[in-house]
Amino acid sequence: MNAAKLTDGIYKVGVNLPATKLFEGLWPIPKGASINGFVVQGDSIALIDLVQDFQTLPEEYQQELTELGIEQSKVSYLIVNHMEPDHTGWLGKFIKKNPHVKIYCTSKTVPMLASFYDVADNIVPIKTGDTLDLGQGKVLEFFETPNVHWPETMMVFERSSGILFSCDAFGSYGAVDNAKSFDDSVDEDKLKEYENEALRYYSNIVAAFSPFVTRAIKQLESLPIKMIAPSHGLIWRKDISRIIELYRTFAEYATTAGDKNSITLVWGSMYGNTEKALDAVREAVKEANITLYEHRAPDEEIGMALSDIWRSKGIILAMPTYEYQMFPPIAHVLDDCNRKKMFHKHCLRIGSFGWVGGAEKEVKVWGERLKWNMQPSIEWAGTPSEVELQKIKEGVRALIASMHATQTIEA
Ligand code: FEO
Repeated sequence: MNAAKLTDGIYKVGVNLPATKLFEGLWPIPKGASINGFVVQGDSIALIDLVQDFQTLPEEYQQELTELGIEQSKVSYLIVNHMEPDHTGWLGKFIKKNPHVKIYCTSKTVPMLASFYDVADNIVPIKTGDTLDLGQGKVLEFFETPNVHWPETMMVFERSSGILFSCDAFGSYGAVDNAKSFDDSVDEDKLKEYENEALRYYSNIVAAFSPFVTRAIKQLESLPIKMIAPSHGLIWRKDISRIIELYRTFAEYATTAGDKNSITLVWGSMYGNTEKALDAVREAVKEANITLYEHRAPDEEIGMALSDIWRSKGIILAMPTYEYQMFPPIAHVLDDCNRKKMFHKHCLRIGSFGWVGGAEKEVKVWGERLKWNMQPSIEWAGTPSEVELQKIKEGVRALIASMHATQTIEA
């Protein structure tokens, strides 16, 4: 791919992870994911972030530099916004070949450069407000934004163009064609697709660090930003407020517990006896004009469900008792909710059992751990009767009332 021009002397060097790869070796990316590096060229040349050392990605990155007429030997600076190896995997080899390149990063990055890549020389630790003048009016200003995503994370603002290189913040999954790198190079449907992929990315990667995202957005408010260039996904220039507000909303879900008019149903069924109750759930949710997202475990990857769980204030868990405990795939979902700090939600659990219950005890423990407001469970032996189906509808109504009654604002 040819590099994308952001403005005179500033380019995106973008490559894509294939849809078959798992992001972080864990999360499905059926639409792929871009990794965005950048070139800022004044009298001197700086690269902002490199690329994962995976398959041909370093060669593709190098090829895009070559097409810009940039030889590695002419690069003076490498700005490391974040050490996660999706952006630095190639760093060890790059610096070995180009030991003259001076690395700018936060002080927390310094020991990581040594531990990851045995790089200990020619490093300049920065503090918020420090600048690097590249000549020809190009000035990079640094901002420490710890824990968005790792503790050493920073962002860079190029003063003459107003471009914020925001690292993982404001990023999304989804491969990006360099020829269509901007929010105004795709149509509204595609933009919405990237926004959905931004939510999936956020819930998988960033959710646990939401208070830091809110803090970073506040910290950057006074900057005259004209363009936002994240390390994944589209570059925003037509309407930067769209991605800022989206991320502000995503981060607020950490305290609001999600949209009070949305419920995510996570369900699993061994022989169909729990599944038989789902239409009662759907009917009661529809009657209340609430949005329902559904995910079946283990058939669907958890990474696909977490985005809907994150944005929903209400959760319905439908699962049978399995050997005196919870249906294991749902326990796995709750474990991930805990790891991603998806707290303070409102939850109803329903499900069948064969000879005796048992899931309920474990569900209660998870409810306490997640600080979820739990409705009384509705369980039945074997197939749900008409009476039990009515009880389920009442349980859903009670859940919705609880979601609407409580303003959960708790850090
Ligand atoms: Fe895109 Fe946290 O690395």
